[in-house]
Amino acid sequence: MSRKLGLTAASAVLALTLAACGGEGAGSNSDTSNADPEDLSIGVSMPTQTSERWIADGNSVKEQLEDEGYEVELQYANDDIPTQSQQVDQMITQGVDALIIAAIDGTALSSQLQAAADANIPVISYDRLIRDSENVDFYVSFDNFKVGVAQANALLTGLGIANEENPGGTATGPFNIELFAGSLDDNNAFFFFDGAMSVLQPLIDDGTLVVKSGQTTIEQAATLRWQQETAQKRMEDLLTSSYNDGSIVNGVLSPYDGLSRGIITALQNAGYGSAEKPMPVVTGQDAEIASVKLIADGVQSSTIFKDTRLLAEQAVIAAKAFLEGDEPEANDTETYDNGVKVVPSYLLPVVTVFADDIQKELVDTGYWTAEEVEAGQAD
Ligand code: GAL
Repeated sequence: MSRKLGLTAASAVLALTLAACGGEGAGSNSDTSNADPEDLSIGVSMPTQTSERWIADGNSVKEQLEDEGYEVELQYANDDIPTQSQQVDQMITQGVDALIIAAIDGTALSSQLQAAADANIPVISYDRLIRDSENVDFYVSFDNFKVGVAQANALLTGLGIANEENPGGTATGPFNIELFAGSLDDNNAFFFFDGAMSVLQPLIDDGTLVVKSGQTTIEQAATLRWQQETAQKRMEDLLTSSYNDGSIVNGVLSPYDGLSRGIITALQNAGYGSAEKPMPVVTGQDAEIASVKLIADGVQSSTIFKDTRLLAEQAVIAAKAFLEGDEPEANDTETYDNGVKVVPSYLLPVVTVFADDIQKELVDTGYWTAEEVEAGQAD
């Protein structure tokens, strides 16, 4: 706390000094390439603390930046767009030298980003692409289309249907499935859904998979702000509207563990998880600890593990490159068009985790301890 206040005070002084000297407005940055990291500060803006994943991201980014010697101002915005805009505004006024932002609404930060550009502050879009602004300098994320493909393949594997991850599957269906998507203001939601549908649509078309509700568009499947309760409510509604004739759901495509937990609660409340009504195959994403436990316990089928430590590392590498006067290295310069320009990106690979993979992928790699998996919560 005192460290944070110290930084805020120091940054305020810096901002005032810059404003006084340069007349370019508070937060205007000079050339940082020869500066000592100790004299530079980086603003990190994260969407919410209601999900463990963003807490892990925030902690990893902060620790790794501090290891490089930088000062860090980390803020969470409670999934509230005005709060995030205000926090980013403040960071700019305080004179941060670079910004790392995971946006709540990818289209809502244009004026903040313009202010950052005017002050020569490089902006790194973290995991979620910031849209409709030319002032996004770099994007670090995972291969989000592949996340969707992996979720669909995990659904098929869970149902026993052959797919590229599990060519030996022999089940032919038909299986009843329902589809969930993320928040429509998050660019990633479209990549996940499109990736998943690239695998599922042919099987829906040939009758192997049946979406009994008929709700197959992303707009119908969307979940505002990725809220668990919203997903639970929609699953309850789907069960009431489409499965009150004795039919059962066999699988649910869920793009994020928080939604999966809401979906599972709705299913359990409706009696799923018994011999007559087995728990459907439910997918997920983020390897959140509560869901990893559900997977270990055979309740949730799978998740997609995205190592936030590696993502943080890429964000730090990018920030460092900008601050040293270089351009960070991109491994994708085609996919992420934010509506104004294609943003150079560094995309990381993802790993599908079923119960059998927990030890190797999550425990042996130090992401979660065996005790945390057992308890279903982080230490
Ligand atoms: C997405 C992110 C996912 C998940 C989701 C909900 O932008 O890529 O991994 O965390 O938000 O928080």
